[in-house]
Amino acid sequence: MSLDIDKLASLCKRRGFIFRSSEIYGGLASAWDYGPLGAELKRSVKDSWWRDMVLQRDDVVGLDSAVIMHPGVWQASGHVDSFSDPLVECAVCRRRWREDKIEADACPECGGGLSEPRMFNLMFETHLGPVRSEQNTVHLRPETAQGIFVNFANVLTASRRKPPFGIAQIGKAFRNEITTGGFIFRTREFEMMEIEFFVPPGEDDEWHRRWIDESLRWYTRLGVDESRLRVRPHEPDELSHYSRATSDIEYRFPWGWGEIQGTANRADYDLNAHAQASGEALSYFDDRLGQHVVPYVIEPSFGVDRAVLTFLVDAYREEEAVSAKGKPEKRVLLKLHPTIAPVKAAVLPLSRNDRLTPTAREVLGIIRQSRAVDGLVQYDDAQSIGRRYRRQDEIGTPVCVTVDFDTLDDRAVTIRDRDTMTQQRVPIHRLPDELRARLAPNPEDKA
Ligand code: GAP
Repeated sequence: MSLDIDKLASLCKRRGFIFRSSEIYGGLASAWDYGPLGAELKRSVKDSWWRDMVLQRDDVVGLDSAVIMHPGVWQASGHVDSFSDPLVECAVCRRRWREDKIEADACPECGGGLSEPRMFNLMFETHLGPVRSEQNTVHLRPETAQGIFVNFANVLTASRRKPPFGIAQIGKAFRNEITTGGFIFRTREFEMMEIEFFVPPGEDDEWHRRWIDESLRWYTRLGVDESRLRVRPHEPDELSHYSRATSDIEYRFPWGWGEIQGTANRADYDLNAHAQASGEALSYFDDRLGQHVVPYVIEPSFGVDRAVLTFLVDAYREEEAVSAKGKPEKRVLLKLHPTIAPVKAAVLPLSRNDRLTPTAREVLGIIRQSRAVDGLVQYDDAQSIGRRYRRQDEIGTPVCVTVDFDTLDDRAVTIRDRDTMTQQRVPIHRLPDELRARLAPNPEDKA
């Protein structure tokens, strides 16, 4: 099924995943806000990444560095001189385009003639303190990576590490992109999840391969369809100014293949540049060689918002179903992996009823107190049970727990599975274990 992205955007707005930024003022181009369910989804994506890349490994530690850094950082890193895209402007409609992203040499909008390209630096500028001057001009970071490089020596000493080891960071980045679009695909403010993995020179090719595989596995473990993913090595003329080799992971979006992650071999480019500009040694002592060595860097870099978009697009399904009254109807569901589903489980009394409510509330309390569910459990008793199932399907809730009149006698509830719609009767005392098994992060994690 080819998904119309506007349909997904409409679901996201209706159900509270993603809203246009500043909507009551007419919106701001390509800026988006995450609503109650979007905030949960995004948080689950970041938590899952942090768990897999930092907490479950011995060789990666975390960092949370500042967005605004010393101006010298961007000078030394090459971003002031080289973090630019070629901009062309239409002589007729005045629209601006990235020259390397358009096919023809005329305006894609109106066919007008285009100006000569000029290089446009993507970093946002602002000023530190009350006076606007050249001296206090600073940039909003366009990648989180530089915060890691300038802290290399601090982390090395404080955490008593030696390469191979990595430093991970999740945080906002800002790029004054010439063109944006594809819903949340390309925006000017976005979030990144990055690792700078420091390795002894000579081991870089092997670690590069490992991190491409590991990154791909992160997506497939969270349920993304493998056939819609591919690894694409960069051509030499596409490489960033710091990169020796880069491979992107691309996902097949409704409009075509798009980059969702990149793994670059940055070699010793950044540490050497900062060592030279700051005068600080950014190396480690290699016991085998008996000398100080500047490590090479392998950088798996993920966009949080692109990961969220990938999971949403990949999970969207429309199925033929039958309504409670026996009529054919369309069932829309998000087949999100339980680890990232914004609502993990919903407790639904068969109807809003004085006899059912206390028991349904008791069941909710038992689930919450048991800590069997790591995330949001919703209670919903509005509208018919059929409509509530449809709503939970549409927001991707993996399981619903239904409390009916039999529950009052047999102390058992019905668990309904989102994907198969099968129902299973379970005694309340076994519910926490049952939920724990059904919502396990990975099949192999099930008890
Ligand atoms: N430190 C490496 C780096 O910045 P990049 O390929 O420019 O590499 C890494 O960015 C990831 O960040 C991309 O794969 C993408 O997922 C995300 N990203 C980059 N620009 C973005 C934008 N304008 N909007 C949303 N996500 C973006």
